[in-house]
Amino acid sequence: MEITIVGLGYVGTVSAACFAAAGHTVWGVDINPEKVRIVNEGRTPIVENNLGEKIAQARASGRLRATSDLREALIHSEVSFVAVATPSRSNGDIDATHLLRACKQIAQVLMECDHSQIVIMRSSILPSVFEQCNEIFNATAPGRVKFCVNPEFLREGTAIEDFEHPPFTLLGVEDEQIEGTLRLLYKFIAAPVFVLSPQESLLVKYASNAYHALKITFANEIGALCQHAGIDGQKVMSVFCKDTKLNISTRYLMPGFAFGGSCLPKDVRALSYAAKQYDLEIPLINSLLPSNEKVVQRAVQRVCSSKFRRIGLIGLGFKANTDDLRESPFVELAERLLGKGYDLKIFDPNVSLAQLTGSNKEYIDKVIPHLSRLLVGSIDELVECELLVIGHRYPNVREFLRSVKIPLLELG
Ligand SMILES: NC(=O)c1ccc[n+]([C@@H]2O[C@H](COP(=O)([O-])OP(=O)(O)OC[C@H]3O[C@@H](n4cnc5c(N)ncnc54)[C@H](O)[C@@H]3O)[C@@H](O)[C@H]2O)c1
Repeated sequence: MEITIVGLGYVGTVSAACFAAAGHTVWGVDINPEKVRIVNEGRTPIVENNLGEKIAQARASGRLRATSDLREALIHSEVSFVAVATPSRSNGDIDATHLLRACKQIAQVLMECDHSQIVIMRSSILPSVFEQCNEIFNATAPGRVKFCVNPEFLREGTAIEDFEHPPFTLLGVEDEQIEGTLRLLYKFIAAPVFVLSPQESLLVKYASNAYHALKITFANEIGALCQHAGIDGQKVMSVFCKDTKLNISTRYLMPGFAFGGSCLPKDVRALSYAAKQYDLEIPLINSLLPSNEKVVQRAVQRVCSSKFRRIGLIGLGFKANTDDLRESPFVELAERLLGKGYDLKIFDPNVSLAQLTGSNKEYIDKVIPHLSRLLVGSIDELVECELLVIGHRYPNVREFLRSVKIPLLELG
């Protein structure tokens, strides 16, 4: 394919060299004439392993050309990538000035040349900026731009390796024909292709970077705690990383309700207290319980913003397959709804069973007797409720929910 890449920075240059190496014909466009000159001389404008050789080969094969003339590039291309920088403003917002200008220029050229194009957003942007780009294309070059997203996951230093061997190729596209073209473009990459909406795919990129930042910060806070305690943090985290069942795994990574139970809250609290004793600040770990509390608050708000007063809560234990109510966020939710005067009924087969057999009975009787009175023995007793708040989907819940027409609020 003939491809234009707008922006010859870290992402644009690596993409240009790798697409050219794969057999595509690439036009690299940059407003910086120095970068254009360097690429045309077969050299790399950035420091990146093996990129110099790749650009030299691409130039020698005639499959890579750089230019400052967007028009020259676009008229030859069927597909163009936008890889312009999206730095931060001082308030944290994305500074999309350069990116929006590049989109405007693309639209103007397409209009002037009576040409159409698949334009692929390669830069990291949030959905609001995507909408702004879309508006520019629709207003300046109506019907000429098929706009989609293909986030970049490469890391500087290993950019070529990451480009050629990514964990997946992510396409943010809603048109099957465009999807087909993009799949063809990436045929040389042996990685699974995932297709999402443009907005979803943009968020995968932001979630990934936030998660990477989270991992580094977490490891550093544990490391600092270990250091203060005279413990080898490298050894601690090395073994931590060997747990691929819970630690380095997909476990706990789906959005849902708050954590709770007899271990997580108390152990997080203990770490925070230990750090306090060392005069050590660990803001990430200290933020876990307040963040968890916000999850409960949001659930209360969601119930309050419904007009219903008779509420059925399905699930009281902190997870589905236990009768343990200690620090259960559902207990917290139930207490708040009760405090706000809601007419509440609670169904939890494990807790009801516990009540009957005496397991956990003492906790129920002593700590939450006011909730135990609201427990119903059968899900059918929720039939009069106006809103069902679903904490856990017990086996018999689906059938009941199918048989009644009660609005649902899913927490899990
Ligand atoms: N650097 C990374 O490792 C990395 C990895 C993944 C994603 N990203 C994202 O990719 C995007 C690009 O990042 P980068 O690090 O390659 O940026 P960069 O600053 O290295 O390069 C941007 C290039 O765009 C050029 N440019 C600006 N306006 C232009 C215009 N109107 N026309 C043509 N060229 C123009 C600039 O001259 C510059 O060479 C950002 O959104 C970034 O968040 C970066």
